[in-house]
Amino acid sequence: MLWQQTLIETMSVGGDVVEVGCYLGGTAAVSARMMRNLGDDRQYRVYDTFSGFTDRHWALDAAKGIFSGARDDFSSNSPRLTRWVLDRHGGKNVEIHQGDITSLPDSALPARISACLLDVDLTEPIYLGLKRLHPRLGDGGIILIDDCDDKGWYRAKIGYERYLAELGKSPTYKYGMGILRKG
Ligand SMILES: C[S@@+](CC[C@H](N)C(=O)[O-])C[C@H]1O[C@@H](n2cnc3c(N)ncnc32)[C@H](O)[C@@H]1O
Repeated sequence: MLWQQTLIETMSVGGDVVEVGCYLGGTAAVSARMMRNLGDDRQYRVYDTFSGFTDRHWALDAAKGIFSGARDDFSSNSPRLTRWVLDRHGGKNVEIHQGDITSLPDSALPARISACLLDVDLTEPIYLGLKRLHPRLGDGGIILIDDCDDKGWYRAKIGYERYLAELGKSPTYKYGMGILRKG
């Protein structure tokens, strides 16, 4: 999987590993276990509302015709349930943070990030998430933006391309994920 490959590639970059939008922690557990097996001691942090999409973010994309059947996806969750999954599948050391990535206090974010999986599906949290996370990325660091293909109802690609346009960079994609590198 591209995320695991990215974790290996950024192993020597200083900074925490961040997954924004972790749902039940499946990817985090598998990834943290792989890191431990490789002797990689970077902190793995996950961020999620644990109640799905915010009303505001959903409404912004819904106004442009998003598929309404997905409105409540991921809403039946809690930090406790995700902790339970993580603890049983190799993610005991994963740090859980609850909140909306667009409005969490700065103090809840790491000073430096080496690798980030941004997986929050909608335009606004992808765009604003990149605005907050990208400046913290260390040299050689990588952010992957999930669901940037045109197959589903996701709007991640719009948020990714909006941010890259502001940077004056061209988007690059691999296996349906947007990629943003530093250095
Ligand atoms: C596709 S799921 C993540 C899947 C996870 N990365 C995995 O591989 O198992 C999307 C997640 O984004 C979360 N989410 C949506 N909007 C968010 C926001 N503004 N801030 C933080 N998390 C958000 C949802 O609660 C949901 O759990």
